[in-house]
Amino acid sequence: STASSFVVVANRLPVDRITTPGSDGDTWRRSPGGLVTALHPVLQAEAGTWIGWAGGEGPAPSPFTLDGMRLSPVPLDADELRNYYEGFSNATLWPLYHDAVEQPAFHRHWWKSYEQVNARFAERAAAEAAPNALVWVQDYQLQLVPAMLRRLRPDLRIGFFLHIPFPPTELFMQLPRRLDILRGLLGADVVGFQSPGAAQNFLRLTRQLLGLKPRAHIVEAEDGRPVRAESYPISIDTASVEQIAASDVVANRAKELRAELGDPKTIILGVDRLDYTKGIEQRLKAFRELLSNGELSVPDTVMVQVATPSRERIEHYRALRRTVEREVGRINGDFGRVGIPAVHYLHQSYSREELAALYLIADVMTVTPLRDGMNLVAKEYVASRLNNDGALVLSEFAGAAADLKQAFQVNPHDLDALKSVLVAAVRSPLDEQRRRMRAMRRYLRGHDVKHWARGFLTALGAPETATAYDS
Ligand code: UDP
Ligand code: G6P
Repeated sequence: STASSFVVVANRLPVDRITTPGSDGDTWRRSPGGLVTALHPVLQAEAGTWIGWAGGEGPAPSPFTLDGMRLSPVPLDADELRNYYEGFSNATLWPLYHDAVEQPAFHRHWWKSYEQVNARFAERAAAEAAPNALVWVQDYQLQLVPAMLRRLRPDLRIGFFLHIPFPPTELFMQLPRRLDILRGLLGADVVGFQSPGAAQNFLRLTRQLLGLKPRAHIVEAEDGRPVRAESYPISIDTASVEQIAASDVVANRAKELRAELGDPKTIILGVDRLDYTKGIEQRLKAFRELLSNGELSVPDTVMVQVATPSRERIEHYRALRRTVEREVGRINGDFGRVGIPAVHYLHQSYSREELAALYLIADVMTVTPLRDGMNLVAKEYVASRLNNDGALVLSEFAGAAADLKQAFQVNPHDLDALKSVLVAAVRSPLDEQRRRMRAMRRYLRGHDVKHWARGFLTALGAPETATAYDS
């Protein structure tokens, strides 16, 4: 039988299907985002089943095996892409949960689709899970799955982890279907968050909206089951990031890249999905003002900004792309030279190896989100700095700020602060860089993604599964 005792349910599979017209058979490409980066090594170690969407619309491919995992693709049709994925997930929940940095949109027909797709994922999980299996549901797209799955399969242990922030009650209250979402999450035995504040927000809501009585980290759900809500900050596979950064291929590529950039004194790097939560505009504006007042200058200093395409049919994302590209054009027009742009802007998706080479050449890494659940790019940069040099400029509003305390932390809304922290990072002496980087690297060795998985799964009451990570 193919029934699995460890099942992950996420909107996306770790790979996207690429169908090339004219060629027979599918090719697969790593899918975007931090959720995939974090869960891939965990599920590989477990040899479990991963249920998710394979990208694109229409019928899904049959289940198949990849890197020792069983992948079980769930189909989405064109309407569901519009209403469930681009609509309720990414135009209602995504902005609302990120402090409403863009206005969330509410449309009643989006909700129907959200329910329908959540039911499909729950049914698939019920079909894939062995008796008494452990099912781990991921992220904001699937908040109704825990309760739906419990109705279908009361024998299962069900966990839920939210990769993005969970908003303060004032914002959550805006959701027309707030009760359904809360009850959906309470179907889990453990609900995990990126920060203690997020877990607190959730527990407070169970009191305010459902009249429950949360105590410490536990709340008794309406059916009398205890539900644990706690913070489990996610991380990276530190050893594997270090290993990639240490490879000859990456070292050679880094040399090549640095030369191609004209071997400048200082390279400033940004790597983000092109998303309005990431603070890309603020970062560019700070850089422009520093070039303008002469505190930084081209060609001594150049910036490389990777802005990976994301959710491209949603209007807020289109608008952001226009703004960012206009700003890059303006900076290059004012401060570039023939053959030497001030900002190297790359609207492309890169492999882990290419990103590692960029991390190696970046003297200063800028991670400036207005709000971010964690931000794994910040952690990857730190883990890649094998010589302990380099400086990380990190927003206080990234979950990563609680873990990477020795970063150059900043409030990205405060443009003057952003400018002065950026200059401080560029000018920081080597011994200071080393002191900060060493401490952060040590932290990431102890707090890697397997440590995260072990913490969550232990709480879920699966010690025999959790010991798989004790090595
Ligand atoms: N990433 C990638 N290729 C790219 C850009 C990003 O593989 O071109 C990866 C990056 O290495 C990281 C993840 O995508 O592992 C982004 O995770 P993060 O938590 O920083 O942000 P998210 O995209 O999940 O909001
Ligand atoms: C964030 C979310 C993930 C999502 C990823 C990429 O990391 O937490 O759930 O998969 O962004 O976004 P996308 O919409 O392309 O899946």
